[in-house]
Amino acid sequence: MCGIVGVLSNHEASPILVEALKRLEYRGYDSAGIATVNAGVLDRRRAVGKLVNLSDLLVHEPLPGKAGIGHTRWATHGAPSVTNAHPHQAGPVAVVHNGIIENFRELREELASHGIQFVTETDTETVALLAQHYMQNGTRPQEAAFKALDRLRGAFALAFLFSGHDDLIVAARRGSPLAIGHGDGEMYVGSDAIALAPLTNQISYLEEGDRAVVTRHSLEIWDADGTPVTRVKKTIEVDGARIDKAGHKHFMAKEIAEQPGVIARALGHYLSEDGQITLPGPGIDFTAVDRLTMVACGTAYYACLTAKYWFEQIARMPVEVDVASEFRYREPPVPTRTAALFVSQSGETADTLAALRYCTGKADQILSVINAPESSIARESDAVLPIHAGVEVGVASTKAFTCQLTVLFILALKAAQDRGEITTNRRADLVACLRGLPNIISTALGGNAEMQQTALRLSEARDVLFLGRGLMYPIALEGALKLKEISYIHAEAYAAGELKHGPIALIDKQVPVVVMAPRDALFEKTLSNMQEVMAREGRVILVSDAKGIREFGEGAYATLEMPQIDDLLTPILYAIPAQLLAYHTAVAKGTDVDQPRNLAKSVTVE
Ligand code: G6P
Repeated sequence: MCGIVGVLSNHEASPILVEALKRLEYRGYDSAGIATVNAGVLDRRRAVGKLVNLSDLLVHEPLPGKAGIGHTRWATHGAPSVTNAHPHQAGPVAVVHNGIIENFRELREELASHGIQFVTETDTETVALLAQHYMQNGTRPQEAAFKALDRLRGAFALAFLFSGHDDLIVAARRGSPLAIGHGDGEMYVGSDAIALAPLTNQISYLEEGDRAVVTRHSLEIWDADGTPVTRVKKTIEVDGARIDKAGHKHFMAKEIAEQPGVIARALGHYLSEDGQITLPGPGIDFTAVDRLTMVACGTAYYACLTAKYWFEQIARMPVEVDVASEFRYREPPVPTRTAALFVSQSGETADTLAALRYCTGKADQILSVINAPESSIARESDAVLPIHAGVEVGVASTKAFTCQLTVLFILALKAAQDRGEITTNRRADLVACLRGLPNIISTALGGNAEMQQTALRLSEARDVLFLGRGLMYPIALEGALKLKEISYIHAEAYAAGELKHGPIALIDKQVPVVVMAPRDALFEKTLSNMQEVMAREGRVILVSDAKGIREFGEGAYATLEMPQIDDLLTPILYAIPAQLLAYHTAVAKGTDVDQPRNLAKSVTVE
């Protein structure tokens, strides 16, 4: 999933490239590198690990030049090493790549048969070598790059830079996003508009299969058929200011704390003063569809799983939920009168995008709930429902999750209303509860110190189980995911009723079991499962409201008290302890909270 950037500037390119890469580091941080052309000479600097290592290297070994390309890597082919770091150079060509070249083995064999040597284990080096190979016959750089592109299978966003050409970048997009930024006598290329935001807000997005030849004063684009095309120049509203931690120790802490504010903002966009639901754009008419298919990955998938309960309970609407990587290859039938809904923070997740494309032309409506309004998923949807969470930097999603839940709940309410499944009074009650959500979440965040204490106990565990029933089951899954991704403690979640079908064998006094159980209609059922854990010396951490804790907190290893809220809205509230427990456990363990090992925020490869 890597991030790529290119600049044809009138100033030194290195600092501009590094600044843009900072804004792309969410895509991967296994290595970073830049290449520039200076007085016709192509040269590069690369460093393993985070971008700061490249910045340090550049202090000692500066890289002059006003034209350049840069890359931040999430390793796919080949270990994170300087040799495998991009840009890859073959003689006069340097290349940065996001994606996977699927036929690189076959191309390597072909190039090897011409006596061409490889120095890296990457698929990308093949692209640079191919372009170099074509240039040897005197072919011009642009044509050589295009000839190389003709040979590639797989997904890519690519930018080429050539020695002897300090006013030329060749860029191409297939499967991975690529934006071209227009400056004043300068041009830029980037994986997204956020990377380019400090430079320009004038962006043209390349479409699938597009190839572009970029100079400081021109942009020529050809579509997948080789026909010259123009792509509209849009003014993008992305904040170019440096995103900081606002006094918090980590971005994740900041983003957790921001939740009351961003949820209030999302509510403001979807609820009118008089409590009516106002969907943006063409919205959706739920009387025109009979069922909903929801598809996503990671945390966004758990948001879908939660929403399934809502759509089924409030709107009496059949819902299927699937992880995108399974859905896309299963070739599921899409019956008529189906709306397909895709949830994604980044709007660029490769599997989710592929699942969307599978449904295009089959489903009656393609809807997306996204945080990045200019993303590929948003641009390919019939109706887009932004979550208004603002930029989320921490790799572990927090505020995007609760904003996704908020928007999905409103959508379920809309479905219930359109389908005549909810009374006006109940709808008004739920809207009133929604409006109270930011305050209630602020109260829950006030329990931070208690969470920190409990997390100290979790940080000593090797395994942790999470249990939840009904609406708490997806939150238990999210709690376990959060804990494992940032603290590296093995954590699993089970539907509480499934405990006795296997996981109970894991219980002993070393295993903390986090039970998410507001005092709702299923409380007593979950309680029985909790007693089964306690009877086997399992250490229960009960997360419940005052009533639940008063009645059943005794004997628990720890209790965490949540404010009271309508049962239907408990998932949004109980996401807070799930996040805080994971956060404080990771801090206690001293892991890299914002950039946990092996992960990336935007997963643009499958
Ligand atoms: C990665 C991130 C997760 C995220 C998932 C889906 O795994 O680390 O936080 O939930 O991708 O990403 P999306 O951008 O589609 O929501």
